[in-house]
Amino acid sequence: MGGLINWHMSKRKAKVFADLPSNVVELGSGVGANLRYLAPGAHLIAIEPNPYMHRRLRRAARRRGVDLEIRSAVGERIDLPDDSAEAVISSLVLCTVKDPAAVLVEVRRILRPGARFSFAEHVVAKPRTPTRWSQRILRRPWAWVFEGCSCERDLTSLITAAGFARVEVDRYRIHSAFVPFNTQIAGTATA
Ligand SMILES: C[S@@+](CC[C@H](N)C(=O)[O-])C[C@H]1O[C@@H](n2cnc3c(N)ncnc32)[C@H](O)[C@@H]1O
Repeated sequence: MGGLINWHMSKRKAKVFADLPSNVVELGSGVGANLRYLAPGAHLIAIEPNPYMHRRLRRAARRRGVDLEIRSAVGERIDLPDDSAEAVISSLVLCTVKDPAAVLVEVRRILRPGARFSFAEHVVAKPRTPTRWSQRILRRPWAWVFEGCSCERDLTSLITAAGFARVEVDRYRIHSAFVPFNTQIAGTATA
């Protein structure tokens, strides 16, 4: 399913992940869906707590020529110094982490002043819409099937409230069969 999802998100991802520097920190890299947006030779610190992802992630990084360093930490507690990251990226992660507000505090803490957090995430739909109803009705089976994922998070508000100097967010809709997942945001937050 990853390929289909990435196809739906590819235009927005290409925009927000364009021109990444050669040192990047990624939250929840999974099996490497975003390696393609890094230049060959780039250094990626992957904050990926699930050890079952690591082998495929390493293999994908080798294929893409990305110099990979995996940290088995969670985004809520990133083991990197303050003001050290040139860029932080994430896709489809803030829906799954236990505490997205705490993750955003960490992202801001590790970013150098003026550096960017670039994200592509799915979010809660507008109230009283069929998509919102589907998100409400399906929330339990959805979380069960997709390992704790929530389609009910207002991530735009959380990112805006996280104390970044500037936030740019595009809200858009994809047209997949997974209706609760179709309301999306992509953007950047500058430290
Ligand atoms: C839906 S997958 C997305 C993977 C990849 N970013 C993509 O777009 O295909 C969510 C990822 O977040 C990771 N994850 C879950 N909780 C996390 C946390 N607290 N901090 C960092 N990553 C987390 C999972 O292990 C998983 O790899």
